[in-house]
Amino acid sequence: MIPVKDREGIARMREVCAIAATVLDSLKPLVRPGVTTMDLEEAGRAEIARLGARSACYGYEHGERHYPAHTCISVNEEVVHGIPSFKRVLREGDIVSLDVVLEYNGYVGDNAFTVPVTPVSPEVEKLLGVTREALALGIRAAQVGNRIGDISSTIQAHVERHGFSVVRDMVGHGVGVAMHEPPEIPNFGRRGTGEKIRPGMTFAIEPMVNLGGYATRTLPDGWTVVAADGSPSAHFEHTVLTTEKGPEILTIPGLVPARSA
Ligand code: MF3
Ligand code: CO
Repeated sequence: MIPVKDREGIARMREVCAIAATVLDSLKPLVRPGVTTMDLEEAGRAEIARLGARSACYGYEHGERHYPAHTCISVNEEVVHGIPSFKRVLREGDIVSLDVVLEYNGYVGDNAFTVPVTPVSPEVEKLLGVTREALALGIRAAQVGNRIGDISSTIQAHVERHGFSVVRDMVGHGVGVAMHEPPEIPNFGRRGTGEKIRPGMTFAIEPMVNLGGYATRTLPDGWTVVAADGSPSAHFEHTVLTTEKGPEILTIPGLVPARSA
Protein backbone atom coordinates (compact mmCIF):
# COMPACT_ATOMS: atom_id res chain seq x y z
CA MET A 1 0.00 0.00 0.00
CA ILE A 2 1.31 3.42 -0.95
CA PRO A 3 0.96 5.94 1.92
CA VAL A 4 -1.25 8.97 1.23
CA LYS A 5 -0.32 12.18 3.07
CA ASP A 6 -2.92 14.32 4.80
CA ARG A 7 -2.87 18.16 4.83
CA GLU A 8 -0.39 18.27 7.68
CA GLY A 9 1.90 15.71 6.04
CA ILE A 10 1.80 17.60 2.76
CA ALA A 11 2.63 20.89 4.51
CA ARG A 12 5.63 19.26 6.17
CA MET A 13 6.74 17.63 2.94
CA ARG A 14 6.69 21.08 1.32
CA GLU A 15 8.96 22.43 4.04
CA VAL A 16 11.56 19.69 4.08
CA CYS A 17 11.67 19.52 0.30
CA ALA A 18 12.22 23.29 -0.01
CA ILE A 19 15.09 23.00 2.45
CA ALA A 20 16.60 19.99 0.67
CA ALA A 21 16.43 21.85 -2.64
CA THR A 22 17.99 24.96 -1.12
CA VAL A 23 20.93 22.94 0.19
CA LEU A 24 21.41 21.11 -3.12
CA ASP A 25 21.21 24.38 -5.06
CA SER A 26 23.82 26.01 -2.81
CA LEU A 27 26.40 23.41 -3.84
CA LYS A 28 26.10 23.92 -7.58
CA PRO A 29 28.25 27.08 -7.85
CA LEU A 30 30.99 25.42 -5.80
CA VAL A 31 31.56 22.72 -8.41
CA ARG A 32 34.72 23.76 -10.26
CA PRO A 33 38.25 22.48 -10.93
CA GLY A 34 40.46 22.09 -7.84
CA VAL A 35 37.57 21.62 -5.39
CA THR A 36 37.47 18.30 -3.52
CA THR A 37 34.31 16.31 -2.93
CA MET A 38 34.96 16.83 0.80
CA ASP A 39 34.79 20.62 0.23
CA LEU A 40 31.27 20.08 -1.17
CA GLU A 41 30.36 17.85 1.79
CA GLU A 42 31.56 20.49 4.27
CA ALA A 43 29.56 23.20 2.53
CA GLY A 44 26.50 20.97 2.47
CA ARG A 45 26.84 20.04 6.12
CA ALA A 46 27.10 23.73 7.10
CA GLU A 47 24.05 24.71 5.02
CA ILE A 48 21.98 21.83 6.45
CA ALA A 49 22.86 23.00 9.97
CA ARG A 50 22.14 26.64 9.11
CA LEU A 51 18.63 25.67 8.00
CA GLY A 52 18.05 23.55 11.10
CA ALA A 53 17.56 20.27 9.25
CA ARG A 54 19.25 16.88 9.57
CA SER A 55 20.90 14.73 6.90
CA ALA A 56 18.97 11.50 6.43
CA CYS A 57 22.11 9.96 4.90
CA TYR A 58 24.44 10.50 7.86
CA GLY A 59 24.45 7.26 9.88
CA TYR A 60 22.06 5.57 7.42
CA GLU A 61 22.28 1.82 8.00
CA HIS A 62 22.97 -0.70 5.30
CA GLY A 63 23.75 -4.10 6.77
CA GLU A 64 26.53 -3.54 9.29
CA ARG A 65 27.57 -0.22 7.79
CA HIS A 66 26.59 3.34 8.59
CA TYR A 67 26.92 5.96 5.86
CA PRO A 68 29.68 8.35 7.01
CA ALA A 69 28.72 11.67 5.36
CA HIS A 70 25.89 14.21 5.08
CA THR A 71 25.79 14.21 1.29
CA CYS A 72 26.38 11.65 -1.45
CA ILE A 73 28.83 12.82 -4.11
CA SER A 74 29.45 10.57 -7.09
CA VAL A 75 31.97 11.48 -9.81
CA ASN A 76 31.98 10.24 -13.44
CA GLU A 77 31.42 6.45 -13.48
CA GLU A 78 30.14 6.57 -9.89
CA VAL A 79 26.36 6.20 -10.12
CA VAL A 80 25.21 6.99 -6.56
CA HIS A 81 26.27 6.87 -2.90
CA GLY A 82 29.82 8.15 -3.49
CA ILE A 83 31.50 9.04 -0.19
CA PRO A 84 33.04 12.54 -0.10
CA SER A 85 36.83 12.51 0.14
CA PHE A 86 39.74 14.95 0.61
CA LYS A 87 41.55 13.00 -2.08
CA ARG A 88 39.00 13.41 -4.85
CA VAL A 89 39.92 16.61 -6.65
CA LEU A 90 37.56 17.74 -9.42
CA ARG A 91 38.96 18.42 -12.86
CA GLU A 92 37.64 19.84 -16.11
CA GLY A 93 35.55 17.25 -17.93
CA ASP A 94 34.29 15.55 -14.75
CA ILE A 95 30.61 15.23 -13.91
CA VAL A 96 29.52 15.36 -10.27
CA SER A 97 26.27 13.87 -8.98
CA LEU A 98 25.13 15.54 -5.76
CA ASP A 99 22.41 13.84 -3.70
CA VAL A 100 20.86 15.56 -0.67
CA VAL A 101 18.29 13.80 1.52
CA LEU A 102 17.09 15.73 4.59
CA GLU A 103 14.80 15.19 7.52
CA TYR A 104 12.92 18.12 9.10
CA ASN A 105 9.97 17.96 11.49
CA GLY A 106 9.63 14.20 10.96
CA TYR A 107 9.46 14.28 7.15
CA VAL A 108 12.04 13.53 4.47
CA GLY A 109 12.82 15.25 1.16
CA ASP A 110 15.16 13.76 -1.44
CA ASN A 111 16.76 15.41 -4.48
CA ALA A 112 19.80 15.14 -6.70
CA PHE A 113 21.39 16.47 -9.86
CA THR A 114 24.54 16.03 -11.88
CA VAL A 115 26.73 19.06 -12.49
CA PRO A 116 29.40 19.24 -15.21
CA VAL A 117 32.86 20.62 -14.47
CA THR A 118 32.83 22.48 -17.77
CA PRO A 119 33.78 21.91 -20.45
CA VAL A 120 32.66 18.29 -20.75
CA SER A 121 32.55 16.18 -23.92
CA PRO A 122 29.48 16.56 -26.20
CA GLU A 123 28.58 12.94 -25.44
CA VAL A 124 28.52 13.60 -21.70
CA GLU A 125 26.59 16.83 -22.21
CA LYS A 126 23.97 14.80 -24.07
CA LEU A 127 23.90 12.25 -21.23
CA LEU A 128 23.06 15.01 -18.75
CA GLY A 129 20.40 16.50 -21.01
CA VAL A 130 18.70 13.18 -21.69
CA THR A 131 18.69 12.22 -18.00
CA ARG A 132 17.22 15.61 -17.02
CA GLU A 133 14.55 15.23 -19.72
CA ALA A 134 13.81 11.66 -18.57
CA LEU A 135 13.12 13.00 -15.09
CA ALA A 136 10.81 15.70 -16.46
CA LEU A 137 8.89 13.16 -18.55
CA GLY A 138 8.72 10.69 -15.65
CA ILE A 139 7.27 13.41 -13.43
CA ARG A 140 4.72 14.33 -16.10
CA ALA A 141 3.61 10.67 -16.15
CA ALA A 142 2.86 10.79 -12.40
CA GLN A 143 -0.78 11.74 -13.04
CA VAL A 144 -3.60 10.63 -10.76
CA GLY A 145 -5.21 7.59 -12.42
CA ASN A 146 -1.97 6.48 -14.06
CA ARG A 147 0.09 3.59 -12.67
CA ILE A 148 3.66 3.43 -11.36
CA GLY A 149 4.70 1.51 -14.48
CA ASP A 150 3.71 4.54 -16.58
CA ILE A 151 6.45 6.55 -14.87
CA SER A 152 8.95 3.72 -15.30
CA SER A 153 8.24 3.02 -18.95
CA THR A 154 8.27 6.72 -19.88
CA ILE A 155 11.74 7.19 -18.38
CA GLN A 156 13.12 4.02 -19.96
CA ALA A 157 11.77 4.83 -23.41
CA HIS A 158 13.32 8.30 -23.44
CA VAL A 159 16.72 7.09 -22.25
CA GLU A 160 16.93 4.13 -24.62
CA ARG A 161 15.72 6.18 -27.59
CA HIS A 162 18.96 8.13 -27.15
CA GLY A 163 21.15 5.04 -26.85
CA PHE A 164 21.85 5.23 -23.12
CA SER A 165 20.96 2.69 -20.37
CA VAL A 166 18.84 2.97 -17.25
CA VAL A 167 20.42 1.49 -14.15
CA ARG A 168 18.42 -1.53 -12.92
CA ASP A 169 20.04 -2.10 -9.53
CA MET A 170 18.64 1.02 -7.88
CA VAL A 171 15.16 2.50 -8.15
CA GLY A 172 13.12 5.56 -7.22
CA HIS A 173 10.80 5.27 -4.25
CA GLY A 174 8.03 6.69 -2.15
CA VAL A 175 9.31 9.19 0.42
CA GLY A 176 7.66 10.76 3.46
CA VAL A 177 8.10 9.88 7.12
CA ALA A 178 10.91 7.57 5.98
CA MET A 179 13.49 7.99 3.24
CA HIS A 180 12.23 4.84 1.53
CA GLU A 181 8.50 4.11 1.53
CA PRO A 182 6.43 2.07 -0.90
CA PRO A 183 6.27 1.97 -3.84
CA GLU A 184 9.49 1.18 -5.63
CA ILE A 185 9.66 3.29 -8.80
CA PRO A 186 12.01 1.56 -11.24
CA ASN A 187 13.35 3.54 -14.18
CA PHE A 188 12.35 0.67 -16.46
CA GLY A 189 9.10 -1.24 -16.80
CA ARG A 190 5.82 -1.55 -18.60
CA ARG A 191 3.05 0.94 -19.15
CA GLY A 192 -0.20 0.12 -17.34
CA THR A 193 1.45 -2.03 -14.63
CA GLY A 194 1.88 -1.44 -10.90
CA GLU A 195 -0.22 0.40 -8.36
CA LYS A 196 -2.59 3.20 -9.26
CA ILE A 197 -1.55 6.76 -8.49
CA ARG A 198 -3.90 8.67 -6.14
CA PRO A 199 -3.76 12.24 -4.83
CA GLY A 200 -1.47 12.92 -1.86
CA MET A 201 1.32 10.49 -2.69
CA THR A 202 4.93 11.69 -2.51
CA PHE A 203 7.48 10.10 -4.80
CA ALA A 204 11.24 10.40 -5.25
CA ILE A 205 11.58 9.98 -9.01
CA GLU A 206 15.21 9.50 -9.93
CA PRO A 207 16.54 8.25 -13.25
CA MET A 208 20.14 6.98 -13.01
CA VAL A 209 21.49 6.72 -16.54
CA ASN A 210 24.72 5.20 -17.82
CA LEU A 211 26.39 6.23 -21.05
CA GLY A 212 27.36 2.56 -21.55
CA GLY A 213 25.74 -0.59 -20.18
CA TYR A 214 23.33 -0.70 -17.25
CA ALA A 215 25.33 -3.11 -15.06
CA THR A 216 26.75 -1.75 -11.82
CA ARG A 217 28.95 -2.94 -9.00
CA THR A 218 29.68 -1.67 -5.50
CA LEU A 219 33.21 -0.62 -4.53
CA PRO A 220 34.96 -2.23 -1.53
CA ASP A 221 33.95 0.80 0.60
CA GLY A 222 30.52 -0.87 0.66
CA TRP A 223 28.67 2.22 -0.61
CA THR A 224 29.91 3.63 -3.89
CA VAL A 225 27.93 2.18 -6.79
CA VAL A 226 29.79 2.43 -10.13
CA ALA A 227 28.99 1.60 -13.74
CA ALA A 228 30.54 -1.84 -14.27
CA ASP A 229 32.00 -0.80 -17.63
CA GLY A 230 33.41 2.45 -16.22
CA SER A 231 31.21 4.67 -18.39
CA PRO A 232 29.96 8.03 -17.05
CA SER A 233 26.65 8.04 -15.18
CA ALA A 234 24.12 10.81 -14.50
CA HIS A 235 21.41 11.18 -11.84
CA PHE A 236 18.54 13.69 -11.58
CA GLU A 237 15.95 13.46 -8.83
CA HIS A 238 12.97 15.39 -7.46
CA THR A 239 10.45 14.69 -4.75
CA VAL A 240 7.00 15.06 -6.30
CA LEU A 241 3.48 15.37 -4.82
CA THR A 242 0.59 13.87 -6.79
CA THR A 243 -2.55 16.02 -6.99
CA GLU A 244 -5.81 16.10 -8.92
CA LYS A 245 -4.34 19.00 -10.88
CA GLY A 246 -1.24 17.00 -11.80
CA PRO A 247 2.17 16.29 -10.31
CA GLU A 248 3.84 19.06 -8.31
CA ILE A 249 7.60 19.20 -7.82
CA LEU A 250 8.28 19.86 -4.12
CA THR A 251 12.08 20.07 -4.25
CA ILE A 252 12.24 23.66 -5.45
CA PRO A 253 14.48 26.08 -3.54
CA GLY A 254 12.87 28.93 -1.63
CA LEU A 255 10.12 29.43 0.92
CA VAL A 256 12.43 27.99 3.54
CA PRO A 257 10.71 28.25 6.93
CA ALA A 258 12.35 30.34 9.63
CA ARG A 259 14.34 28.15 11.98
CA SER A 260 12.33 27.59 15.15
CA ALA A 261 14.10 29.18 18.11
N1 MF3 B 1 18.97 9.19 -2.37
C1 MF3 B 1 19.67 8.04 -1.85
C2 MF3 B 1 18.72 6.86 -1.79
O1 MF3 B 1 17.54 7.04 -1.93
C3 MF3 B 1 20.26 8.43 -0.54
C4 MF3 B 1 20.87 7.36 0.23
S1 MF3 B 1 21.65 7.99 1.63
C5 MF3 B 1 22.87 6.84 1.90
O2 MF3 B 1 19.15 5.72 -1.68
F1 MF3 B 1 23.14 6.95 3.14
F2 MF3 B 1 22.46 5.62 1.63
F3 MF3 B 1 23.86 7.10 1.16
CO1 CO C 1 16.23 8.79 -3.58
